[in-house]
Amino acid sequence: MPGPCNVVVLLSGHGSNLQALLDSTMAPGSPARVCAVVSNRADAHGLVRAHAHGLPTCVLDHAHYAGRDAFDAALMDSIDRFTPDLVVLAGFMRILTPAFVRHYQGRLLNIHPSLLPRHKGLHTHQRALQAGDTEHGCTVHFVTEELDGGPLVVQAVVTVESGDTPHTLAQRVHAQEHRVYPLAVRWFAEGRLMLAASGRVYLDGQPMAASGHVIRQ
Ligand code: GRF
Repeated sequence: MPGPCNVVVLLSGHGSNLQALLDSTMAPGSPARVCAVVSNRADAHGLVRAHAHGLPTCVLDHAHYAGRDAFDAALMDSIDRFTPDLVVLAGFMRILTPAFVRHYQGRLLNIHPSLLPRHKGLHTHQRALQAGDTEHGCTVHFVTEELDGGPLVVQAVVTVESGDTPHTLAQRVHAQEHRVYPLAVRWFAEGRLMLAASGRVYLDGQPMAASGHVIRQ
């Protein structure tokens, strides 16, 4: 890709993953740069982080649109103004329409706080504890039309300790999110990571395992 890989980050909340991406992409020689942050919530703390870095931001309140299709059309419009090479979902709490997902096919990443395909959806830390899982973690994946169902890129595994609560587990998983998301974005920006039309993920020209690259402590 000529020049740095332009990344637009979508978020709804705290933005700690945005912060991790900013910290890594602002390092000298980074192949990626965050060029804008888009939120569906005006009170998202991630916007404060973006402003602190002088980044352009855009807020689209989904409540102001007639439905999902209208909202996603406006969202695509706002995102595309920044001509992104990659769109990164970092705690963006909206279900996206098939039209949106297709528009960014192969250049749309998400991070999910579980070892997919286990625990799709919400309350993953609580559900991992309730299920008696001995391992938990987080996953970066390409986004497809199936919610939390796209092909996996990288997972970080965390051991569940006796005495863990959803809160303590979330803290350890979050720390891993901040490692693996910048890693996946760097791979993409370096042109090393791609989603083939077959739905298979390739790293350095080699097909990845279905679990993606797995990092264990
Ligand atoms: C993370 O747990 C991420 O896995 C999920 O949303 C949360 C966002 O956290 N998709 P933050 O806003 O980046 O701190």
